Amino acid sequence: MLGGNLTGGTTVSASQSPAQTGTQQSIRLDPWLDRYADRTAGLSASEVRALFAVASRPEVVSLAGGMPFVSALPQEMLQDAARIATTTRRGEALQYGSGQGIPYFREQICEIMSLEGIHAHPDDVVVTTGSQQAVDLVSQIFLNPGDVVLAEGPSYVGSLGIFRSYQAETVHVPMDDDGLIPQALRETIARLEAAGRPIKFLYTIPDFHNPAGVTMTMERRREVLDICHRHHILVLEDNPYGLLWFDRVPPEAIRSLDSEGVIYLGSFSKIFAPGFRIGYVLAPHAIREKIVLANESAVLSPTTFGQIMISEYLDHNDWRGQIDTFRGLYRDRRDAMINALDEQLPTLPKTHPNGGFYVWLGLPEGFDSKEMLPLAVHELVAYTPGTAFYADGTGQDHIRLSFCYPTPEEIGVGIQRLAKVIHREQDLLDTFGTSPRPAVDTQHAVSTPPPDTL
Ligand SMILES: Cc1ncc(COP(=O)(O)O)c(C=O)c1O
Repeated sequence: MLGGNLTGGTTVSASQSPAQTGTQQSIRLDPWLDRYADRTAGLSASEVRALFAVASRPEVVSLAGGMPFVSALPQEMLQDAARIATTTRRGEALQYGSGQGIPYFREQICEIMSLEGIHAHPDDVVVTTGSQQAVDLVSQIFLNPGDVVLAEGPSYVGSLGIFRSYQAETVHVPMDDDGLIPQALRETIARLEAAGRPIKFLYTIPDFHNPAGVTMTMERRREVLDICHRHHILVLEDNPYGLLWFDRVPPEAIRSLDSEGVIYLGSFSKIFAPGFRIGYVLAPHAIREKIVLANESAVLSPTTFGQIMISEYLDHNDWRGQIDTFRGLYRDRRDAMINALDEQLPTLPKTHPNGGFYVWLGLPEGFDSKEMLPLAVHELVAYTPGTAFYADGTGQDHIRLSFCYPTPEEIGVGIQRLAKVIHREQDLLDTFGTSPRPAVDTQHAVSTPPPDTL
């Protein structure tokens, strides 16, 4: 195993001790091992983390990370916003601010959300340190140890890590090309309720899902909402990719259908730049108050400098045009990936994303996506194994491929290399039999999300 577990008792044999004591004595690497809180049991480094460090070398085509292509942002535009933040608005930009975020910036956020059919009041918006922190704050105010979070299977690795860190159990609900399957949701809820398990919320990524790439239909959005209403289950709608559509506009947000039972999360990471670390939550009033208090206790106030830079950018630039630029760029990359897969690996099942960053690729029977990764990195291509996206360590039969960062040419090369690895793996299986691979270590399957920073 390449990674370690905080409470797993990582030990190393002392070179002289066995001779001195006559026993196989171990030295603990971490002298504070017995002092950590129980919840740190959920904080484990990914077993593939070390491989990802290798995969970030320039000769490797990384189809693993979810890094937006920020070079597409015009430099002058950023310089203008930075100049204002360091001159005329300097006093405000360099100072602490409100725990809820700058009021005018929250108005601008409402304008962005209106593009997704959401009509909201700035009072109900809280600015956060990326939507990642928004997931954390919502988890902090709702999750007790042993609670259940429902999530699509697969689901975003970064959120799975958060739910786990609050000692909640993520129960996956299957999805298909139209998103979460309502009947499966009904059955899962019935099973959990019969077992007396408290379900706190449904975490869903309805648009251009990470990692599955699919979008929930409007019919299903209504149905899912109706099911959750009936069972008094909150919906946590995480929508960082919604404006990055390619061929047709996705259905309006679930939050557009209901203001009381849905907490909505948005982000500037994909439509502007993740380096600012700015996301936002729109929540029903009482929940919003608790989120503000939790935010203040976590960070005092979200970055005022970043809020002012983005606010100035929104006020003085054609940000809708910039989103169009991103959409065109990512559409070309999506096309490059789908075409290369059609050509190189035509028999493997894959999703056809109409937006966002990801394709979810099924592997032939008997393959293990995590075991295959070292071979892929050796061939100078990286992907994220499907196991990262399931709390229970399943997903060996899939991989996530990102098309957001590499150029279309690099994508072509990357898929060619991947095809070589898959064909070679297939030859080995054909020659030596399709015996099942060793089971995945479920204890360490969910990790913090280094893959998305590649
Ligand atoms: C579904 C989803 N939610 C949340 C995040 C975190 O984004 P942010 O940069 O806003 O924290 C990501 C990042 O990749 C994501 O894909």
